[in-house]
Amino acid sequence: MSSQRQETVRRLTAPDIAARKGGVPIVCLTAYTAPMAELLDDHCDLMLVGDSVGMVVHGLPNTVGVTLEMMILHGQAVMRTAKKAMVVIDMPFGSYEGAPEIAYANAARLMKETGAQAVKVEAGATVVHTVDYLIKRGIPVMGHVGLRPQAVLVDGAFKAKGKARDEREAILADAKATAEAGAFAVVVEGVAEGLAREITQAIDVPTIGIGASAGCDGQILVTDDMLGLFDWTPKFVRRYGDLRGEISRAVANYADDVRQRRFPGPAEIYFAKAG
Ligand code: KIV
Repeated sequence: MSSQRQETVRRLTAPDIAARKGGVPIVCLTAYTAPMAELLDDHCDLMLVGDSVGMVVHGLPNTVGVTLEMMILHGQAVMRTAKKAMVVIDMPFGSYEGAPEIAYANAARLMKETGAQAVKVEAGATVVHTVDYLIKRGIPVMGHVGLRPQAVLVDGAFKAKGKARDEREAILADAKATAEAGAFAVVVEGVAEGLAREITQAIDVPTIGIGASAGCDGQILVTDDMLGLFDWTPKFVRRYGDLRGEISRAVANYADDVRQRRFPGPAEIYFAKAG
């Protein structure tokens, strides 16, 4: 793995991302590890150390069990190789929904210990005050409205949002309040197309869609989903690869070679010096 890239590349910042409103769509993906962050960095404007790491890497059933310590370890790994893209780190469930002072202490810890440039919170009316509190104290915040994975135990399942009028109005109000509190961008997840467009028109910071609309100011996907690492992916994911197939073919070939004593071969072993 090459880690020799020069430090001359200027990393994108929260104001750079905010300034992309209505411009060339913002390319975002999740990253949880150093080698993946290195691969994604040249192609992405923003990498999210998402709390989806709990499900994707640690095999949890949802993101509720993700801890601050898990986020810090993955954030540190990503920051070791990400050089150009802005890196945002998710605040995990239970780390920001209470008193703003506690949210601040946790957000500051995430940023100091990882070097990530901003935090993301699943924003609703109850955390708008916290968004404002964090930003006024120097922590850039990205919001997340619509389907909020951390609310899965209340919702009962990961369900698309905004089908009924009162829900649509509540999500629009969440997005507006989050933007007005100073968020530099807002993720809009799992909502009907029309609502995502309405939010994009209604707020003056970029919307980043996931299962939302091509009309958003940018798009994000879980990297492992778009690379085809799972046998099931949600409807909104487009698979750009078949890593699951690739890995299982490679591992089957390796297992076969070992069992048939074809591996290691002469090129893969060390020989003693003559004499
Ligand atoms: O945790 C995550 O990966 C996310 C994105 C899917 C937006 O929040």
